[in-house]
Amino acid sequence: MSGIHFKDVIKRFDHHIVVDHLNLKINQGDILGLLGPNGAGKSTCIHMLCGLLPIDYGDITINDISVKQHVLEAKKLIGVVPQHIALYDHLSAEENVTFFAKLYGLKGNQLKENVANALQFVRLYDLRHEKITRFSEGQKRRLNIACAVAHNPAYLIMDEPTVCIDPQSRNHILESVKELNKQGTTVIYISHYIEEIKVLCNQIAILDHGQLIANGTKKELLSQLDLHEKVYIQVSSLMNSAAKEELENHMQVSNVLWENQQLEITLQSAQLILQDILFLLSKYEISVQSLHIEKVDLETLFLNLTSGTSHQ
Ligand SMILES: Nc1ncnc2c1ncn2[C@@H]1O[C@H](COP(=O)(O)OP(=O)(O)OP(=O)(O)O)[C@@H](O)[C@H]1O
Ligand SMILES: [Mg+2]
Repeated sequence: MSGIHFKDVIKRFDHHIVVDHLNLKINQGDILGLLGPNGAGKSTCIHMLCGLLPIDYGDITINDISVKQHVLEAKKLIGVVPQHIALYDHLSAEENVTFFAKLYGLKGNQLKENVANALQFVRLYDLRHEKITRFSEGQKRRLNIACAVAHNPAYLIMDEPTVCIDPQSRNHILESVKELNKQGTTVIYISHYIEEIKVLCNQIAILDHGQLIANGTKKELLSQLDLHEKVYIQVSSLMNSAAKEELENHMQVSNVLWENQQLEITLQSAQLILQDILFLLSKYEISVQSLHIEKVDLETLFLNLTSGTSHQ
């Protein structure tokens, strides 16, 4: 079976469970966004996946190859952008990428071509001969990414890859990851920038205290929760009791606040009943000056599920 499969994985540090019976499948072709508060266990999962940490219980398979039993073979399929920069200071940018690409067996023209492409991927080609001691933090982080993609891995694992990276380079990297995915690369993308997860990922998993607390498409996750949207309307009249009561009695409205000329309606889905609300207001000859809908988004979902807490 293709894909990456975490099977009942447990990791402990000093008798403290940091990954707790994790079952998670990443299908080939997916871009999975992995979210979770600080200390949730995300990086620990990645360290076990790439053989940096032993798996205490369970197993992880990559295309059915067991990481526990055949770590070297499994590692050939992946490229990892670690959360903490792992580069050689005394080498140039190009030498760093070449070093990592060689570890995966690239040589000759193929090596040169892939290294050049990886440096273009992160827009560092013009600085390829510079020693990286001269690089800024953001440039080092971009080089960290280049080292992971140079061997064209089937699975690309990115652990907070865009921290410290300027908006232009970040957009370029996100677009390039999308392009790699179109060409067949499967991606696990860890980030605290929910906007990035939103634009990039087709699957989302949320870890908290080492446990998987949500997993699915964004739509599936949003439908699991009984969250509400809010409609704010600036109206022409002060509170009209009859109109307020009629609004409150609408099946899908859960709360109505009316202060001065401000109306705040809490409801299940604004899209479904916006017409009803506007019709009702016009029946009472109340005209609408402005209208704003606060939608439930991935961020609200994340904060609701994880109680907005971090664990470090
Ligand atoms: N080598 C280690 N020894 C002991 N405890 C560790 C070690 N590595 C991680 N931990 C602990 O394991 C837990 C999970 O850490 P991990 O780095 O996986 O979290 P994370 O979800 O990646 O967080 P962040 O968003 O801050 O990167 C934390 O409580 C951390 O303190
Ligand atoms: Mg981490």
